[in-house]
Amino acid sequence: MAERLDDLDLTAFRSALGRFPSGVTIVTTRSEAGTLHGFTASSFAALSLDPPLVLVCLDRGATCFPDFMAAKRFVVNIVTPAHAELAMRFAAKGENKFAYGGFAFDEHGHPLLPDAAAVIGCELEEAVPGGDHVILIGRVRETRTGGDEPVAWYRGGFLRLGERAA
Ligand SMILES: Cc1cc2nc3c(=O)[nH]c(=O)nc-3n(C[C@H](O)[C@H](O)[C@H](O)COP(=O)(O)O)c2cc1C
Repeated sequence: MAERLDDLDLTAFRSALGRFPSGVTIVTTRSEAGTLHGFTASSFAALSLDPPLVLVCLDRGATCFPDFMAAKRFVVNIVTPAHAELAMRFAAKGENKFAYGGFAFDEHGHPLLPDAAAVIGCELEEAVPGGDHVILIGRVRETRTGGDEPVAWYRGGFLRLGERAA
């Protein structure tokens, strides 16, 4: 069961991480030149209420990494079961991701999903190094909620939310 850190088994590490259920987000941005970028992320988390901050971790190896580092703003779309296929497209490289999915645009021209469970518009406050990822800290500028319930991600698959346990 216990694994020494100096010879950590990566498969076991991934498997342990997979036991943590999370929500699924599609994080989007728009460059100064007007190009659209986005990736699927389960590493989204609330960070602070005052000031209002959220975070999402972005792989340094992602194609969109330089675009998010250069961005002034980004949008976190918390997706529903209806967005599961779209979320897989945003997790795949080399796709014209925005050709699908019924995106609308906020006042800054950033793509958002009108039927997302929640949409959180952020200014990029800070990008903090974290191993092979960077932690994008966003100062929340606007939020909207609606749509269906969010979908969950657990052990490599999408799940609908079930009954309350307590
Ligand atoms: C459910 C799910 C969650 C993911 N979460 C993250 C994440 O939190 N951070 C990340 O950098 N990549 C995450 N990925 C992988 C990225 O979505 C994927 O590498 C994406 O293609 C990166 O965009 P790119 O085309 O710009 O490289 C996740 C993929 C899936 C399917």
